[in-house]
Amino acid sequence: MAKISIIGAGNVGASLAQRLVEKSLGDIVLLDIVDGLPQGKALDILQSTPITGASSRITGTSSYQETANSDVVVITSGASRKPGMTRDELLQTNVNIITRVTRSATEHSPGCIIIMVTNPVDAMTYLALKVSGLAPSRVMGLSGVLDSARFASFIAAELKVPAAEVSAWVLGEHGQSMVVIPRLASVNGKPITKLLSQEAINRLASRTVNGGAEIVGLLKAGSAFYAPSAAAASMVEAIVLDKKETMPCAAHLQGEYGISDVVIGVPVRLGREGIEQIVELELSQEERAALVNSAEAVRELISTMVPG
Ligand code: NAI
Ligand code: 2OP
Repeated sequence: MAKISIIGAGNVGASLAQRLVEKSLGDIVLLDIVDGLPQGKALDILQSTPITGASSRITGTSSYQETANSDVVVITSGASRKPGMTRDELLQTNVNIITRVTRSATEHSPGCIIIMVTNPVDAMTYLALKVSGLAPSRVMGLSGVLDSARFASFIAAELKVPAAEVSAWVLGEHGQSMVVIPRLASVNGKPITKLLSQEAINRLASRTVNGGAEIVGLLKAGSAFYAPSAAAASMVEAIVLDKKETMPCAAHLQGEYGISDVVIGVPVRLGREGIEQIVELELSQEERAALVNSAEAVRELISTMVPG
């Protein structure tokens, strides 16, 4: 069985642990600095396994020794957005946390694949790549799977069709320069440009870009975690089951799409070795320009990070 460690036992981390255990995707280690929190949540999830029939084991800990030799490390530790706060304002607090966490995790699991969740996720993925020294194929971030699911769920609701019939691609930064591509969104293969007015498409695209903030505004304390944990679980599943599934993730580009040495959301094929291929979609001039613009926004953010 694969060994999957989740760093941070807060809303996203614990919810992800529950999803991975229920899918019996591996043995799970849940780690947090708050004493008792990962242990208590892990014990609670463990006690659900006779009911769900899950075969995964789960332990909670504050010690990286227990994470040793993990195949996948998902990093969710850090501060989350408060109402009115942008993802970027989280930057320096999370630079310090992610630097320490990445060092400790990779010291104990030098052959792991890292999935970054902590925001601002594109910059944090870049940081983890540099701090860990891992190959770019083994370090990725959660972004497009969540953002595409948000767009798809809004399309499904607007057209009153099952969400499973909708396919959508959202690329670029997990932030304000996110690149929603309506041309590539479809319902049972039919482009939404033929099903929805331009006004409706613009409205749903804008709601997608602001999807995280909308939930922060409603919750008032904390940010989204049900859809984010579902998105992260699908990335873990593609890796540990070697599914070779193409999904949009934050990845380090080295010339693809004409962009170099920055992390942004692009379609990648995920399998046992992590990112097995960066898939280059045929984009219009306008879509490509939006992606380049998004990459520059992330590059700018990365340049403001003070080493932790
Ligand atoms: P949360 O506040 O519920 O949990 C964060 C946990 O991290 C807390 O339990 C805290 O004790 C722990 N933590 C803090 N410092 C730590 C350290 N040094 N070592 C280990 N654990 C540590 O927050 P939530 O809702 O789980 O979100 C976590 C992060 O994920 C935030 O940065 C949030 O913005 C981000 N996020 C990113 C998404 C994406 O699409 N990339 C989607 C949803 C959340
Ligand atoms: C979200 O999009 C907070 O980034 C997180 O919900």
